[in-house]
Amino acid sequence: MDLTAKAHETGMIPVIVLNNKNEAVPAAKALLAGGIDFMEITLRTPCALDAIRMVSEEVPDMIVGAGTVVNVEGAKKAIEAGAKFIVSPGFSEETVKYCQDHDTPIIPGCVTPTEIMGAMAMGLDTVKFFPADVFGGMKTIKGLASVFRGIKFLPTGGINLSNMAEYVSEPYITAVGGSFVCSSKDLLNGDYQGITDKAASAVNIIRQIKENKK
Ligand code: 3PG
Repeated sequence: MDLTAKAHETGMIPVIVLNNKNEAVPAAKALLAGGIDFMEITLRTPCALDAIRMVSEEVPDMIVGAGTVVNVEGAKKAIEAGAKFIVSPGFSEETVKYCQDHDTPIIPGCVTPTEIMGAMAMGLDTVKFFPADVFGGMKTIKGLASVFRGIKFLPTGGINLSNMAEYVSEPYITAVGGSFVCSSKDLLNGDYQGITDKAASAVNIIRQIKENKK
């Protein structure tokens, strides 16, 4: 599977912080019901690996990946748990190499030209731009994209339903990421309908922009 092409088609990768592994499968189903078949479960909580395993085994239509992977050990555990892709907040050559050696797509965080050149040197064409709002949002991404033709960006950090349109509208944006579609608060409240509704709203915004561009 060409993961970045598929992510571009979906347009959105929800970033998820789970406090209870039993929230993982219902969250995956709620996202699918809203039209999103990607989820990035962050390795920020102790149940993350179990959650990745459960989604990978029980919800085959969901493309589940691991986020906040900061080293080789995290990548190894996530891939063993069934993660189909790895996202990292920063750029670690050895973690990229490990994922490549294990045929698992990785999207490392790169916000400077030097970091992007490091990713390019390892054969990557997609980077995470995080925290997008702090590093200048689309203004900075536009500047980088004008130099690094062919590089695609996954902006996350500070993106929500009201500002996602400005990001989605450029062809060099693989997808947008963010916690707003499936927040810890929604999960804590068991508001799976709310997750589906927000996923559907995000998908709708993405669809409208793609339609307008035709
Ligand atoms: C990430 O890991 O990409 C960010 O935590 C997501 O940022 P957000 O919570 O502002 O969406």
